[in-house]
Amino acid sequence: MSSIAVVVPAAGIGKRMQSEIPKQYLKLHGQTVLEHTLNQLISHSNIAHIYVVLHPDDMLFSTLDIADADWITTVPGGDERSDSVMAGILATNHADWILVHDAARPCVKLDDITNLLKLSKDNTGGILAAPVRDTMKRGDSQHVIKQTVCRENLWHAQTPQFFPKQQLLTALHSCQQAGIAVTDEASAIEQMGGTVKLVEGCYSNIKITHPEDLALAEFYINQQNR
Ligand code: CTP
Ligand code: MG
Repeated sequence: MSSIAVVVPAAGIGKRMQSEIPKQYLKLHGQTVLEHTLNQLISHSNIAHIYVVLHPDDMLFSTLDIADADWITTVPGGDERSDSVMAGILATNHADWILVHDAARPCVKLDDITNLLKLSKDNTGGILAAPVRDTMKRGDSQHVIKQTVCRENLWHAQTPQFFPKQQLLTALHSCQQAGIAVTDEASAIEQMGGTVKLVEGCYSNIKITHPEDLALAEFYINQQNR
């Protein structure tokens, strides 16, 4: 298998969570969201090291039990998620592929990561995603429906996202130079005309974003028996 470097962006401030500390440091079953995420990733048989991207003013990571783990390298992040991901990738040693996973997604399943990693065989990157279930509407600024968007072939993008390192670096750099804002790695690859595969994951791989997501994440972690 090709060499893989794992980058976990954890430098956000979690504005939508409206908590006193960034959401990656809130606790689920007595352990921080970030520790759940990192422990889950490192338990995968193909992952041996993780680059964790932290806010330059982060004071909390050093207080965690895993802070001194020899399988973690910390890297200072940037203003936008893509800046943090870029910083993480630039810190990695000789890797052929980069797996990026949000600190805020502690419920990712190991089997889904395995399925995503299989993409390296065909040299085409991709992302975990889940098919949209609800009927989708496009509204206007007055919250009036303008259109029903066909649900067929619509997916929720998740992480991990997995791409050849050089392709991802070039794509993120081009977007930065062109001032194109991207909220995930796939968008940067798409901007370059690259192919991105959709690997079906689970609805339980939620991104903790709003306060009610914490209880849901605790429920899914309980179910996973890990
Ligand atoms: N992230 C990051 N650097 C940034 C912004 C986000 O490393 N400048 C990370 C977050 O820590 C999170 C992941 O990217 O693990 C996904 O971002 P998101 O869910 O949007 O987190 P926040 O930006 O922290 O939340 P919000 O958008 O509500 O402020
Ligand atoms: Mg954000």
